[in-house]
Amino acid sequence: MWGDYFCSRAVGTSATGVLVVHHSSRCTFTIFHTIMNPILAEAINEQIRAEFHSAYIYLAMAAWANENNLPGTAHWLRMQWQEETLHATKFLDFLHSRNASVHLLAIDEPPRSYASLIDVFEHVLHHEQSITERINVLYDKAVEHRDRPLQILLQWFINEQVEEESQVQGILDQLKLVGSDGPSIFLLDRQFASRPAPATNPE
Ligand code: FEO
Repeated sequence: MWGDYFCSRAVGTSATGVLVVHHSSRCTFTIFHTIMNPILAEAINEQIRAEFHSAYIYLAMAAWANENNLPGTAHWLRMQWQEETLHATKFLDFLHSRNASVHLLAIDEPPRSYASLIDVFEHVLHHEQSITERINVLYDKAVEHRDRPLQILLQWFINEQVEEESQVQGILDQLKLVGSDGPSIFLLDRQFASRPAPATNPE
């Protein structure tokens, strides 16, 4: 948002978080909205917490899979752990780029045990659905506060959530198809081992 204002003697950051800059010999000042609305910054910090919590949940699931002789599943979940960490840092870097403060919040202890492999992926799907809902609420806030850069960032996350939910739903469908058939689960677990590492700078 822009605006020219008649000269005053103050040059700097105002109490409302706008940068006031000397503009020209005509003694006007230009106002730039450089600092994020604190409500949005707080909501992004909360989303960083949710992404790191997701990472922590998937790391605990990977440990469970290892302990239950499912190395391919453990690998898949480790990749998901990495991906969630990248999501959290993408939000964190965005706060830096908008001159907003990063506030790392405490994350809850994740569950340690699951009834079955299907139970693991049902939890993954429900968790991702809850993250999608969070992203949608955050997007609505960005629209309400007319923060276009945040809306653009969140469009990336909205697409990412569609992809993640679809991928997990596909795995769940396969697992339900094979049921408790040991050899089929063995083959699926080997398939999960081929998941590549996420790109370190997801675009
Ligand atoms: Fe970062 Fe899987 O949501």
